[in-house]
Amino acid sequence: MFKGVLFDLDGVITDTAEFHYRAWKKLGDEIGIPLDRSFNEQLKGVSREDSLTLLLAHGKKEEQFSKTEFLELAKRKNEYYLEMIQSITPKDVFPGILELLKDLRANNIKISLASASKNGPFLLAKMGLESYFDAIADPAKVANGKPAPDIFLLAAKEIGLTPRDCIGIEDAKAGIAAIIASGAQPIGVGRSEDLGEDIPIVPDTASLTFDYLKKTWQPNA
Ligand code: G6P
Ligand code: MG
Repeated sequence: MFKGVLFDLDGVITDTAEFHYRAWKKLGDEIGIPLDRSFNEQLKGVSREDSLTLLLAHGKKEEQFSKTEFLELAKRKNEYYLEMIQSITPKDVFPGILELLKDLRANNIKISLASASKNGPFLLAKMGLESYFDAIADPAKVANGKPAPDIFLLAAKEIGLTPRDCIGIEDAKAGIAAIIASGAQPIGVGRSEDLGEDIPIVPDTASLTFDYLKKTWQPNA
């Protein structure tokens, strides 16, 4: 049996993936780089700075901003995002997630957060979920963002486990790649067109039950 579950946050625990998209879109419009949902798939799971680099490259404007301006743009995007997430409450937790967290705790399965977001602790507090998490991996402490495995390695380490004993849950392509690279077993939330045909995928979090996790777990993988 698995001993731990490593959770992504945005798009898995609540709908903040949508707010990240809207905040990037607002910034993109201001600097003349239109972005659509299809391009946004590439930004999901990717750190703030790496996302901005991708956005500027998308608009062929990499050369246009100094380091200081780059940091100002990243800060501005975060300010838009922060404005949007102030009103988040426990009601915004995605269907099935609270039940899953309770079932995991009741079965002594460790729970760790493996989000690239520096706003993770703030969001867990807003949703009243802090007490369910045994650890929150700090993205500021890892050298490489998703798709590199670093944040999942750290999330497992912080609960005293090896990723081989853990399931990782993700809604982003970069995140699934990171889980696989870490040695944990992935479950995707979303569409197999976006996340891959060869891993277990649920269409939404309501299907993420403790029974489903037990069913997908491959003991000898
Ligand atoms: C998550 C989201 C990304 C976001 C990243 C950094 O991985 O999926 O869209 O860019 O976190 O979030 P932050 O809140 O630190 O800007
Ligand atoms: Mg996500």
